[in-house]
Amino acid sequence: MQQMWSDIDAYIESHLIPEDPILTQTLKNTDEKGFPDHLAVAANQGMLLQMLLQMNKCKRVLELGTFAAYSTMWLARGLPEDGYILTIEGRDTHAALGQENIDNAKLPQTIELKVGRAANILRALPEDFEKFDFIFIDADKQSYPEYLELSLKLSHSGTIIVLDNVIRAGDIMDPENKKPSIEGIRDMYKLMQNHPQLLCSTALQTVGSKGHDGFAIAIVK
Ligand code: DHB
Ligand code: MG
Repeated sequence: MQQMWSDIDAYIESHLIPEDPILTQTLKNTDEKGFPDHLAVAANQGMLLQMLLQMNKCKRVLELGTFAAYSTMWLARGLPEDGYILTIEGRDTHAALGQENIDNAKLPQTIELKVGRAANILRALPEDFEKFDFIFIDADKQSYPEYLELSLKLSHSGTIIVLDNVIRAGDIMDPENKKPSIEGIRDMYKLMQNHPQLLCSTALQTVGSKGHDGFAIAIVK
């Protein structure tokens, strides 16, 4: 099935996703530096992120897990020129690549990349740090419950929270699979269930060039 899913993603991309030299350059540089591309979102998924920001007229975005900053570029495309993105990356090598791609892109928005454990960086933000309109959680899956709680502290009513990789080819359904990343995702579902600070939540399975995975989406009450 993987070949068909990839072919269909290529079909969608060729029809609906306009060429963008910044995005192309980001993927090219990431590949040339020897980094794998499976960690990045697909182009049609990136477009969904862009559109969610546009639908909600978002101006301030928090991203956990920068990697190559490819998703960061999509998030920037959904923002006005005075928009702001704080993106956090835990691995030094990924952060260096992400920063290089951000520098090369020369985007009008302010994009701040911080390196370190996202939970520590978020806890160290000043009390009066302006709240985010949109939060994309795409860092280590083991910490998703912690990231969700910390994100809620940085949210206002109506903030949208999107979490990547919440299906993992169905691994979340395998009771034998006790990997910390999989347990982290299951704990995220339990935390989202009837969470007093969330208006509503859902998750969507996706198939495509990145395999079988999915997004969870929540609106803050
Ligand atoms: C992995 C992480 C991701 O965020 C992703 O989108 C795909 C794979 C990983 O750690 O394997
Ligand atoms: Mg991801």
